[in-house]
Amino acid sequence: MNFGCDYYPEHWPEERWTKDIQMMAEAGFNVVRLAEFAWSKLEPEEGQYDFDWLDRAIKILAENRIRIILGTPTATPPAWLARQYPTIFRVDEKGIRSSFGGRRGYCPNSSIYRDYSQRIVLELAKHYKNNENVIGWQIDNEFGGLCYCKSCLKEFRKWLKEKYSTLEQLNKEWGTIFWSQTYTDWDEIPLPRQLDTAHNPSLLLDYRRFISDSYISYQKLQIDILRKSYPHKFITHNFMGLFNGIDYYKLAEPLDFVAWDNYPNLKSMEENKSLANENIVKVSLSHDLMRGLKRQNFWVMEEESGPPGWEYVEPTPPPGRIRLWTYQAIAHGADGILYFRWRTSRFGTEQFWHGILDQAGVTTRRYEEIRKVGQELQSVGSKLIGLEFPQEVAILTSYDEQWAFGIQPNNPQFNYQEHFASYYRILNRWNIPVDVVSIRADLSKYKLVIAPALFLINDELVENLKEFVKKDGTLIITFRSGVKNWNNVVLEEPLPGKLNDLLGIEVVEYDSLPSQQKCKLKLIYPEIEPLSGECNIWCDIIKCGGAEVIGRYAQSYYKGEACVTINRFGQGCAIYIGTNPSPEIKESILKWATEKSGVRSSFPADSKDLEVVLRRKEGKNCLFFLNHSGEDNHVKLDSAYVELLENRKYAKGSIMTIEPKGVKILWET
Ligand code: GAL
Repeated sequence: MNFGCDYYPEHWPEERWTKDIQMMAEAGFNVVRLAEFAWSKLEPEEGQYDFDWLDRAIKILAENRIRIILGTPTATPPAWLARQYPTIFRVDEKGIRSSFGGRRGYCPNSSIYRDYSQRIVLELAKHYKNNENVIGWQIDNEFGGLCYCKSCLKEFRKWLKEKYSTLEQLNKEWGTIFWSQTYTDWDEIPLPRQLDTAHNPSLLLDYRRFISDSYISYQKLQIDILRKSYPHKFITHNFMGLFNGIDYYKLAEPLDFVAWDNYPNLKSMEENKSLANENIVKVSLSHDLMRGLKRQNFWVMEEESGPPGWEYVEPTPPPGRIRLWTYQAIAHGADGILYFRWRTSRFGTEQFWHGILDQAGVTTRRYEEIRKVGQELQSVGSKLIGLEFPQEVAILTSYDEQWAFGIQPNNPQFNYQEHFASYYRILNRWNIPVDVVSIRADLSKYKLVIAPALFLINDELVENLKEFVKKDGTLIITFRSGVKNWNNVVLEEPLPGKLNDLLGIEVVEYDSLPSQQKCKLKLIYPEIEPLSGECNIWCDIIKCGGAEVIGRYAQSYYKGEACVTINRFGQGCAIYIGTNPSPEIKESILKWATEKSGVRSSFPADSKDLEVVLRRKEGKNCLFFLNHSGEDNHVKLDSAYVELLENRKYAKGSIMTIEPKGVKILWET
């Protein structure tokens, strides 16, 4: 297992390095990330490079058998560069330019910034070319941020020209006849800066795509340099879980693997049970999303290891929590974990963002906990690397859909990520392993696919879904699907547009509900236990073509009309949920859909706080039991296993206790 921390030797006197690094080695660390914010120390003056200090740190690390991931330092331009070229900074929606003092303030389209970034990366690449202790690279740090500067404007117009070829085509696709917005010259097209009214939704969506592509092409500049010098070393970037400012599928494509930064929100986690549960599920969902970006295992490049905080200090991870997060990550597909950060800084913006050690630099409770994990991983870590995930259920997502809903949520209570999570949460609670994958992914391996709110639709997507259903797949699609084409223009066909024949329905009318308003509904399908409940946010009023009715509204002027349907298509079936039912109703539908499609739970435990994740390796099952609660959990084992952490055998039928915040890893014998 790749196990370590994010280390900033430049923040500490050199005399201290050896002690720090020895302590890291004692904790079982075998990898650290270095230098991702160290530009001013690596190039103190333009063209004057100083890598000696980094070489010395790397040498001591290597002597302690700790390998290095080097971060390219481009998230924090040095002051001399900022002073010379203030235009490298981003401009906000109101036209105000950012300036030196923070981080990540640069514009990805600034040709000056691109040029200077390439130079420092090239120097690093040349210098570390033959250094065997550097095993890979992290490009920049957590890409993201919108910009409305002149360079972006120029590049946006170029991007549009490439996409639409002619202005005539752009005018047609965007519907610029509306409000007299027809363009007669490419130079008339604006960036969507702040106005009194909203911009054209097609322009807004293309702008989001353009910004995303800008970071992707900025990343490529660096990748191209590093690949040339380092064809045999890995390149990654640290992603941000549920952040949706960039199309992460595209950003991940040229990388060897995805790494991400996991900062679970501990606020109220210990006191408020339901909030705590939400947070835990959010972490699992983020891991699954990250694994789905390349459909391969990932790393956690920054794992919370102390109380976070800039101006305020947030709760401290209580005993056992860091260990539990570590195994939760491994269970969901992490092949590497690095804790952020080694030692809490004495100065700078993040002086209260605590790491493993406090500023005092002595052993902490958190260090001891991590050292224990290090010991465990030294004995079982190699078994836990490269685990495979069973592929029975997928939930589909796309950044285009998220951006389109960001521009027009349709209903003030509708939040795409929350809608998505409401289905994930149920499956997670039943310990059903879920792949979160792109809407373009090959679905042939899955039994059940959930496609929440496919607002934008195109033929390729419809074909992918039809292929899946035809071959005995069970598909669930939810409301606000099939509404628009890929340019964010509403389709002419009756809803759900291109999905009509797959779903065998027509949405003849809809009702967007005011906040707090609920509508009653009933599940009436013979295969599902009859159940009355409620829904909110949105009500599609459905006329069935070939589909059968699963649920009907029991209130309002559409009382008796269909709201949930099922349509046989080829050998499979497509279910449409035309509203946002309460969790109980969703559970009922999902329970039936999972049973019907033969989807299995990793382990049918009935405790909300016990997460069980099934993985596989070399044909053997491996079960992670993660007790997120403060109480013991007991389970009866369905087969004989060896528990890896205690190296203890459990016979079939025996009762295993998982202590509060405890972890058990069972290996099939
Ligand atoms: C991450 C970032 C780190 C550090 C941490 C705590 O997002 O990558 O450099 O800033 O947050 O704020």
